[in-house]
Amino acid sequence: MFDLTSVDLLDAFTRQLRLCKLREGEHVVVLSEPGSRGDYVAAAFGAAKTCGAHVIAATVPGGSPAPMPSTHTGAGPGLISVLNDTTAQTLLKSADLVVDLTREGFIHAPVQQEILRAGTRIIFVCDAPDVLIRNLPKESDKEEVLRGVELLKASSVMHVTSAAGTDLTIQLPGSKPEFQCGFADDPGRWDHWPSTMVLCWPEISDGRIVLAEGDILLPFKEYVRTPVTLEVSGGHIDKVTGGAEAEMLNTFFDDSQDRWARSLSHMGWGLMRTADWFATAMYGKDDLMGMDARAFAGNFLWSTGPHPHLQRESYAHLDIAMRGCTVAVDGAEVVISGRLAES
Ligand code: FE2
Repeated sequence: MFDLTSVDLLDAFTRQLRLCKLREGEHVVVLSEPGSRGDYVAAAFGAAKTCGAHVIAATVPGGSPAPMPSTHTGAGPGLISVLNDTTAQTLLKSADLVVDLTREGFIHAPVQQEILRAGTRIIFVCDAPDVLIRNLPKESDKEEVLRGVELLKASSVMHVTSAAGTDLTIQLPGSKPEFQCGFADDPGRWDHWPSTMVLCWPEISDGRIVLAEGDILLPFKEYVRTPVTLEVSGGHIDKVTGGAEAEMLNTFFDDSQDRWARSLSHMGWGLMRTADWFATAMYGKDDLMGMDARAFAGNFLWSTGPHPHLQRESYAHLDIAMRGCTVAVDGAEVVISGRLAES
């Protein structure tokens, strides 16, 4: 049996590393665990060589500190083997670019901030091969998301409404707007391939979120079948009502025994025009992390649990992607009924 997928992926990984501004002579670490895709390790390794960089493929033991199974959830708790190993951390800090091919990444692990502070840039990759290729970013994606960040920074209120009944008011001052553009080109930058989104970390939001049929619950990778109403006050989900998915969310919040489970976390909107809303239906759960849903152009993405700017450490992280919302920032509509305003 031939295994040609790594060869097939070499061009896409090389284009990705060039977007990360990998230069000749820089040092790349390809980080993996035993459950990582071998074809991705090979493709990243080959791409780094193609760019003339030094490259080390480092495989560390699997095992996550999070109670959730490592099925490409996006929770980003890191690997115990790195969290407990200063030699591994030193290697990652000494790299110019880390290609993170671990199953869950490190986005919510404080150690990642330490690594980034050393100037290392990190690109996290774990979706399926054709998802990566279809959503390969463009350099101009960064300029577009930065315009969204500037808008959020200059504004006071984000207001989200939908025909289904959503009416949520979000206070923006202090909400630390940021972005994902699908490549990590600046020193100390983390990013995720694929992704194109604008987000912020508000503390206070009030009103009601109504999930409509077809919205996507992550990390479960399930579509909403019956509308769900979430009553929100002061950034906290007070009440969840509806059908089966409402029961599922209530059970998740209760089972987590996590004090921040019902607190809202990041919020924003997707700008990835190549994203496919049906990818969630068409792939096995272990094949996909779900960036097609999270970054889908014109979706309103909100989440629960961890909040680094309020020092809330939590493993109870849901990302919920909604179609059909209108998102207005200080009255300027950036998403209208689920479509980007400028497209
Ligand atoms: Fe998230």
